[in-house]
Amino acid sequence: MSDSHDRQPESGGDFPSPDEVMAALRKLDFVFVSKLMWAIIHTVMKVARTNATVLVVGETGTGKGLIAKLIHALSLRAGRRPVMVDCTAITASLAEEALFGHARGAFTGAVADSKGKFEFADGDTIILDEIGDLPLDQQAKFLRVLQERTIERVGSNNEIDVDIRVIAVTNRDLDAEVKGGRFRADLLYRLKVVTIVDPPLREHMEDLPVIAMHALQKYCARHGRVINSISPAAMKLLMNHNWPGNARELDAVVEGAVIMEESDIIQPSSLVFGPTGSQTALAALDYILNKPYPQAKACGYGLFSM
Ligand SMILES: Nc1ncnc2c1ncn2[C@@H]1O[C@H](COP(=O)(O)OP(=O)(O)OP(=O)(O)O)[C@@H](O)[C@H]1O
Ligand SMILES: [Mg+2]
Repeated sequence: MSDSHDRQPESGGDFPSPDEVMAALRKLDFVFVSKLMWAIIHTVMKVARTNATVLVVGETGTGKGLIAKLIHALSLRAGRRPVMVDCTAITASLAEEALFGHARGAFTGAVADSKGKFEFADGDTIILDEIGDLPLDQQAKFLRVLQERTIERVGSNNEIDVDIRVIAVTNRDLDAEVKGGRFRADLLYRLKVVTIVDPPLREHMEDLPVIAMHALQKYCARHGRVINSISPAAMKLLMNHNWPGNARELDAVVEGAVIMEESDIIQPSSLVFGPTGSQTALAALDYILNKPYPQAKACGYGLFSM
């Protein structure tokens, strides 16, 4: 077995230039102004050109996926697209074949050798998304890949070297998962070489206006609307919300507002917070009740056919 680490230096010894960082941020549509996010980017810059395993943790919707992609984009492997593995989709039967590939004759219908995702990621970055959801029975296999950087195809005993750079992402508290017996401690130690904590939006609210304006432009283009700004009153509402769903929730609230807004500035009445359908229905009813009758009827609501 050759040492796959020989193929890439453990540390490139260099850092991406500020221009490269700015270009990668722009390409990923990753926007922020806060010192907190710049501190995270600083860590990303230190780790990007190494082959170190990185664990990105944070609440749902904070932008962990963007951070993982940024690390790859600034890495020595950026010439290829990263290989994504959604660990929530992994079940015992699916995992083996999809991740490790199979040898000819491994099972009925296996007429030829086949590569799995780990082999496809040879020379590339592999992003293990939602690693905290990986079934316990699969964790030992992942540990082996991370530790040895070798895999065996299903139905074969041949060890195949894989030169992979691993970025693992989770919204779970993996220390608590270990305590609860749901996550292997040895796998966590392998993953935790460098940990990047992506903060919840409520801890860097100074980024909210730029993320919201960015979403406004994106959804105006997507839905063919011309809305130039967010009114001060609407912005105040956005700033006062707690954002349990973080930037993803903000993104969705702005998209909804782009659809609902009738003027060229987002007004508070177009903002609907929270995930519940009832709130949305109430907002729709409120919208109709506040319309002159013919306009409401034009909306097609039989409710008003009196
Ligand atoms: N700083 C940011 N600038 C622009 N968009 C952002 C930013 N942070 C998050 N987003 C947007 O918010 C959404 C969620 O981001 P992403 O998928 O990276 O979050 P996540 O933490 O991986 O979420 P999950 O926990 O659900 O996997 C995406 O649409 C992303 O583009
Ligand atoms: Mg994600």
